[in-house]
Amino acid sequence: MVYSAPLHRFPLNTQPLKVTMLPINNALSCCTSPAVQHVLHIACTTAIAAGSIIKQQFNQPHDIRKKGAINLVTETDLAAEAHILKALQRETPGIPVMAEESSQSISVRDQPLYWVVDPLDGTTNFAHGVPHFAVSIALFDAQQPKVAAIYHPILDELYCASLGGGAWLNDNRLCVTQTDTLIDALVATGFPYDIDQTLPQVIRQLERVLPAVRDIRRAGAAALDLAYVACGRLDGFYEINLQPWDTAAGWLLVTEAGGKLSDFNGAPYSPFVPQTLATNGHLHSALLKLL
Ligand code: IPD
Ligand code: CA
Ligand code: CA
Repeated sequence: MVYSAPLHRFPLNTQPLKVTMLPINNALSCCTSPAVQHVLHIACTTAIAAGSIIKQQFNQPHDIRKKGAINLVTETDLAAEAHILKALQRETPGIPVMAEESSQSISVRDQPLYWVVDPLDGTTNFAHGVPHFAVSIALFDAQQPKVAAIYHPILDELYCASLGGGAWLNDNRLCVTQTDTLIDALVATGFPYDIDQTLPQVIRQLERVLPAVRDIRRAGAAALDLAYVACGRLDGFYEINLQPWDTAAGWLLVTEAGGKLSDFNGAPYSPFVPQTLATNGHLHSALLKLL
């Protein structure tokens, strides 16, 4: 991961940051304990505050750097992450954070309890002015997500979930679709940054899945792909080589909405494996056969 020089901050937007909280009372009232309520509230408020920073900076010029040939980072990714790290360290001192732009933080995966953060999922969309990106925050307890929040700042949509307490979009309970035939399914996928290494596999999977389903979307933000499976806008999603911060929060959203995740062999899901298949459950085995 290379940032050769400190990123330049564009002093263009001098407006004070406007952060407006969204309703989460129903989500909080279904939490299994006051401690879970507390961390869900922290995840939601932090995601909304970071999303507000991203929204404020969206229409400005950006300092776009390359982490790889096609893997970008902007000053906004770093500003959002800095805000999240500060907020989580203030609210939950002692709980470490695994965050995408803090390269050493992957080592916290051996800890019993840690936050997993993607400060801006959909950076390529953001850098090109495409208004489809999100903040993703999850708390992992014994390698399972305990609470999750994904915030789409442009649509002002807050997805959240707690283990055993359901999945919610702007405080309305979520449920996956009932679609049980592939030809009626809208499926999403994504293309990994190491596409030069993985193109044959990606094409092979597209060749099998595309003719079998109603259509495929590649929207460019894996956290939102998973949130869309949870809320029923999509029936399924698959991608290779995602990172834990891409899927940590979405994993809990999908399962709490009644859906299922696994790797491409059907083994129980972990965000540390390089294969992600998320479905409404009904389509899981049929999609597995194609991957
Ligand atoms: C990326 C997005 C994209 C997916 C990539 C991810 P980023 O995350 O989720 O949809 O295809 O694999 O890395 O870099 O925008 O945070
Ligand atoms: Ca991401
Ligand atoms: Ca990111």
